[in-house]
Amino acid sequence: MNVHDSEQMAELLKQAGHEETTQEKKADLLIVNTCSIRRKAEQKVMSLLGRYRGLKETKPSLLIAVCGCMAQKYGDELKEQFPQVDIVVGTHNIDRIPGMIERVRREERPPAETDFRESVPSIGIIAPPRRGAVSAFVTIMQGCNNFCAFCVVPHLRGREESRPMKEIVREVEYLAEQGIKEITLLGQNVNSYGGMLKNGDNFPRLLREIDAVEPLKRIRFTTSHPKDLSSELMACFGSLNKLCEHIHLPVQSGSNRILERMNRRYNASEYIEKVEELRKFCPSIAITTDIIVGFPGEEEEDFRDTLKLMEAVKFDGAFSFKYSIREGTRAAAFEGHVDEGVKGIRLMELQALQERHTLDWNRSLEGRTEEVLVEGFSRNSGKDMTGRTRSNRIVNFPGSSALIGKMLPVKITEAHAHSLRAERTDEEEVPHAG
Ligand code: 5AD
Ligand code: SF4
Repeated sequence: MNVHDSEQMAELLKQAGHEETTQEKKADLLIVNTCSIRRKAEQKVMSLLGRYRGLKETKPSLLIAVCGCMAQKYGDELKEQFPQVDIVVGTHNIDRIPGMIERVRREERPPAETDFRESVPSIGIIAPPRRGAVSAFVTIMQGCNNFCAFCVVPHLRGREESRPMKEIVREVEYLAEQGIKEITLLGQNVNSYGGMLKNGDNFPRLLREIDAVEPLKRIRFTTSHPKDLSSELMACFGSLNKLCEHIHLPVQSGSNRILERMNRRYNASEYIEKVEELRKFCPSIAITTDIIVGFPGEEEEDFRDTLKLMEAVKFDGAFSFKYSIREGTRAAAFEGHVDEGVKGIRLMELQALQERHTLDWNRSLEGRTEEVLVEGFSRNSGKDMTGRTRSNRIVNFPGSSALIGKMLPVKITEAHAHSLRAERTDEEEVPHAG
């Protein structure tokens, strides 16, 4: 999500006559796009700002801007704590950056812009695809109304707002015309897309419209909330050709007691039933998740319930985190904060189990032919090419840059913990979406 926000910001600044550089030392303006989801993310930004102070000492004309969730959260306090920061722009005000740059150049010190607006103007900025890119993000909604007890997002990104369907479809058409093969629809909770538009538009309808866009090949989306995963949406996986067989469905915990305290509004068996239904509609679907260990009040038995749920579902992959206290959220005031050491031990056990499951899934693909969309050179070898299967698994295989952007059948030869190795088959490019 933040990557896409940065792309939108870059586009906005380009339109205002600025030029992008990837070299810090050459830049006249450095923008730090921040995340507050966990404490670690904030700590990284603080140390980066420390480094930028050094850069500013050697180049006093350098401007430093902070935007995103930390800007929203701390506002002017950031400038007090880090006097090297010139501009602070919250999550609803990206469009104001060019104006603020002008003001700073006129030697003003504009206050932080952190007001929440009814409609977020930047939600519709269309960033042209990067050169050579085969996939792109499209924001379909922003904000969140769910207020999970651990999460800062509703506090820092505001209430849910959906973009009109026509506008989204137009953006997808534009990207497909520019050569983009795969789009990922973005939102904090894409399943509830349209709810606030009150015109009958909903997420499955949006998916069906986008599925008809040519020459687009693949559609993905993230993130989904289990409570809003309807049978209508599940059916899309079985019926829409371009919709890839992967869903990221954060479960957060397998303990009913903890799920209730988290305000997730489903229990473990409801989650498992949804997974079973999904697999009925689409047996090959890959399911990934997010899990938090050590939420306040989590006892050993609750943690065991999470492991049990993982065994029952057998996720293809999981992002797992130690609970991180976030000021202003309900859980911050809960009793029973878990010792950091205990969180660490639980996280290691959980990750070991997940690695076994991921490897099992990867091994089950050995010998099979899978369609990959070739993205570029593999990061590890620099020689091999890399791409993703429809189930979002990374595949590395021999080839050349001429393959970038092609949909190829490859034969999986070797499963690793985080990727697959494959060889080319004799077949040429896959002619249709799937
Ligand atoms: N502590 C740890 N993990 C968190 N997440 C969100 N808030 C917190 C927190 N306070 C995790 C959730 C969410 C993912 C994006 O980040 O698992 O799904
Ligand atoms: Fe945060 Fe996601 Fe819950 Fe919204 S649904 S509050 S973004 S964890």
